[in-house]
Amino acid sequence: MPFIEVRGLVKEYPTATALRGVDLDIEKGEWLSIMGPSGSGKSTLLNILGGLDSPTSGSVMIDGTDITTLNENRLTVFRRERLGFVFQQSHLIPHLTATENVMIAQFFHSIPDREEAEEALRRVGLSHRLNHRPAEMSGGEQQRVCIARALINNPSLLLADEPTGNLDRENTKNVLNLLRELHEEEHFTIVLVTHDPFVSRWAEREVTMEDGRIVKDEALY
Ligand SMILES: Nc1ncnc2c1ncn2[C@@H]1O[C@H](COP(=O)(O)OP(=O)(O)O)[C@@H](O)[C@H]1O
Ligand SMILES: [Mg+2]
Repeated sequence: MPFIEVRGLVKEYPTATALRGVDLDIEKGEWLSIMGPSGSGKSTLLNILGGLDSPTSGSVMIDGTDITTLNENRLTVFRRERLGFVFQQSHLIPHLTATENVMIAQFFHSIPDREEAEEALRRVGLSHRLNHRPAEMSGGEQQRVCIARALINNPSLLLADEPTGNLDRENTKNVLNLLRELHEEEHFTIVLVTHDPFVSRWAEREVTMEDGRIVKDEALY
């Protein structure tokens, strides 16, 4: 059985149909990118994979659990224990330092551990930014804090929606190279949404969406 098994996923909004029957298998440890034009349903699919949104119909099995059947409490536990999220906007807490922003994620999971948070920030190349606040860091540095925060509780699945969407090419490369290093070490599964072919190339496999459907699915290497 694949790590993630999506079957017949449909998402209808009153004004639009975002997903029109998506089937998708993802293996454990795979790095998959979801490509496609704006409005094709990428974010809707990612949000449903992360239990942030629910489908109109269809199922999403993750590691043997159909997350579409979980109630709100069990879904919250599932997200906290198993998932990490990175978005285009960093959503860091402005008045907290980089270290404290990572510690917040530890707190919601279990127990804050400053040493461990600092070590995670050193690992993403931010040893010189431990006590800086978001506004005192570059966009690339803020996204690296987000990656440290997303991975601090060792999730088995990292979900990223346009994580480099606000970065220039140089910072985009830095963030993706970092993600590649971490992925090679830890073997967590990555599902990364992007409309940028340059970003998509970092993945092992690329799925392309159009108008709520997967229209292409190919191995990149
Ligand atoms: N909360 C919402 N309410 C109504 N329509 C939505 C909502 N979210 C997304 N949509 C619509 O669903 C479609 C897919 O959106 P989205 O998943 O955000 O696409 P993408 O991430 O590929 O740009 C679009 O037509 C969008 O307008
Ligand atoms: Mg989107």
